[in-house]
Amino acid sequence: MQKLVIEGGRRLCGEIELQGSKNSALPIMAASLLCGEECVLHGCPAITDIYSASRILNCLGAQCRFLGNTAVINSAGAEGTEIPAALMREMRSSIMFMGAILGRNGCAAVSIPGGCELGPRPIDMHLSALRKLGASVTEDGGNIVCRLPSGRGKGTRMTLPFPSVGATENIILCAVMAEGETVINNAAREPEICDLCGFLRACGASVEGDGGSSIVISGKKRLHGCEYTVMPDRIAGATYLSMTAAAGGEMILKNACIREMEPFLTVLEQTGCSMYASEGRICLHSGSRLRAVRDRIRTMPHPGFPTDAQAVLMAALAGADGTSVFEETVFECRYRHTDALIKMGAEIETVGRAAVVRGVKKLHGAEVAATDLRGGAAMVTAALAAEGISVITDIMHIDRGYERIEDAVAGLGGRIRRV
Ligand code: UD1
Repeated sequence: MQKLVIEGGRRLCGEIELQGSKNSALPIMAASLLCGEECVLHGCPAITDIYSASRILNCLGAQCRFLGNTAVINSAGAEGTEIPAALMREMRSSIMFMGAILGRNGCAAVSIPGGCELGPRPIDMHLSALRKLGASVTEDGGNIVCRLPSGRGKGTRMTLPFPSVGATENIILCAVMAEGETVINNAAREPEICDLCGFLRACGASVEGDGGSSIVISGKKRLHGCEYTVMPDRIAGATYLSMTAAAGGEMILKNACIREMEPFLTVLEQTGCSMYASEGRICLHSGSRLRAVRDRIRTMPHPGFPTDAQAVLMAALAGADGTSVFEETVFECRYRHTDALIKMGAEIETVGRAAVVRGVKKLHGAEVAATDLRGGAAMVTAALAAEGISVITDIMHIDRGYERIEDAVAGLGGRIRRV
């Protein structure tokens, strides 16, 4: 099993070209099933979740191959309706294929997806929304079979009890091929939803209102292929900025999605880092010590502070002057990284959904195991700021979402090796 060995305590300095967004590329790859032609997707990050999605596409009868960061997907022969449980378990986003297969073929057989363990991650909203679109859904011991009796969904109006990202995406994927109009109220407003809708519009779909709380979709009988570039990864961007903030130094993040990163940037700015953002570049300068963030950092659906950036910012604030308080409202159990940070000298106390982070003078290196994707990235962040050597094991979690993280960190002058 591979590990990352990091020698911390050095200032970082350099540039990073931001990778394409994992959380956009995955539903867009699922959406490529709907067009039945060739799609060329630029900006697909070279990460294991993307390769899992490509295995699912190929198993359904599509052809997906990569030329660097470009995926060429031909879904002309994608008549398959079933995803084997082993592929479903590889990642949470495998569930996104349910709406796409249903939209394409009128029937989908899947099972409970895998992915990061962040507390219970039910799919009840996905299933009840597909039922509203006219699907019969049967669940049996973790196996789920959805069928549209007439082969197509029926447009409908629905209001989600919570703006779930995955449920919103599944509904869109099924509704773009349904008969008539579908309205989703209380839809998720994440930028990756807009990217998915942008891709679908490029394929000829009629979708409006994405980025707001109500999305209106007029179903089409056919879509067509297209060429599309996936948006940059705002969470990978938040991660690399947090690393430089924590270790001190200066960096330029290129290919950044500034507007989409605003909820994170406004909080990071309160740590005393100076930032300048313009035309897809974010320049960050971090002096010797960060300041704690005075207001409680509450994770919320977009445009709130992103839950996916909670762990990496916490790692940076572990060495700040003063006490910061986080409140995780999106996932029930998203503090699994704190034990590793404590092992590195952090003072963090978690009480239910809150985490109180008392900044310490200096973190120290330790051997820790990545617990999940963003938690693992938080450990790399802390290790870069810490005095001494850290060893991070179980890095398959990190490889699910970060493209060659050691190259990106080395580009900032960080001492990191994969062994
Ligand atoms: C997506 C992102 C993930 C991010 C999360 C929140 C992808 C691949 N993953 O995950 O990185 O952290 O959005 O921004 O895009 N819930 C239910 N029932 C459901 C669906 C969700 O109770 O049917 C709950 C979940 O358990 C969780 C909350 O709603 O507590 C948010 O989940 P959701 O927005 O669906 O996140 P994901 O789509 O899983």
